[in-house]
Amino acid sequence: MALTNPDSPLRLGVNIDHVATLRNARGGADPDPVRAALLAQKAGADGITLHLREDRRHILDADLPAIMAAVNLPINLEIAATEEMQRIALVHRPHAVCLVPERREERTTEGGLDVVRDVARLTDFIAPLTETGARVSMFIAPDEAQVEASAKIGAQVIELHVGAYCEYSAEGNEEARDTELRRLFASAALAQELGLEVHAGHGLNFANVGPIAAIPEVVELNIGHFLIGEAVFVGLEAAIREMRRQMSLARM
Ligand code: PXP
Repeated sequence: MALTNPDSPLRLGVNIDHVATLRNARGGADPDPVRAALLAQKAGADGITLHLREDRRHILDADLPAIMAAVNLPINLEIAATEEMQRIALVHRPHAVCLVPERREERTTEGGLDVVRDVARLTDFIAPLTETGARVSMFIAPDEAQVEASAKIGAQVIELHVGAYCEYSAEGNEEARDTELRRLFASAALAQELGLEVHAGHGLNFANVGPIAAIPEVVELNIGHFLIGEAVFVGLEAAIREMRRQMSLARM
């Protein structure tokens, strides 16, 4: 399936993990992440992103094939670099696999993957995934050494962790935010020079998405928590459509 929607120079991957988080709080079937994925598709999402965590706090194993069967969009599966997750990715063969760091006690993915420190292991880890045709992505901080290491291990994509930028923006710390933005711009430019496709995500909302959507090398944003929260007030379709509008405005 083509990754690029020709009408959309900047793709939006909608992360529906938190629909599953809500469902899991009661242990029943509602709200159904498959229904959320279908609505996201209807609202113009370019892809669906899912994080199958080791502790299964978001989606559960059965959600992955159910969502893959239901939607006609590329699936981006976020996983930790463990044997169990590699096996699952090789069985289901999602369009893209994004490697993320994972600690059980963290509330969300705090910080990027340390590719520099794990070059040999990650090179071996991603080889079979790449062989099955998956686009393999590294979720990294905007750090040039991490970008270079991602290219070295044979990843095709990096996803820049924009969490620090989002936090500084929320705090109104303009100096720190702008320093972080410069790092994001520099990392994106270096990644493209090295032949890597550039994505970004984590913590994006209507107030902070503009400057990230304006980074010219970025071709995909993955956004979850804010959209699912906003859906409580305006509905998922309206939240996604507004995000797309803000992304397009920033891109013009
Ligand atoms: N990209 C990656 C790699 C993630 O792990 C996550 C979730 O932590 C996101 C994007 C989406 O972040 P958020 O839910 O804050 O929008």
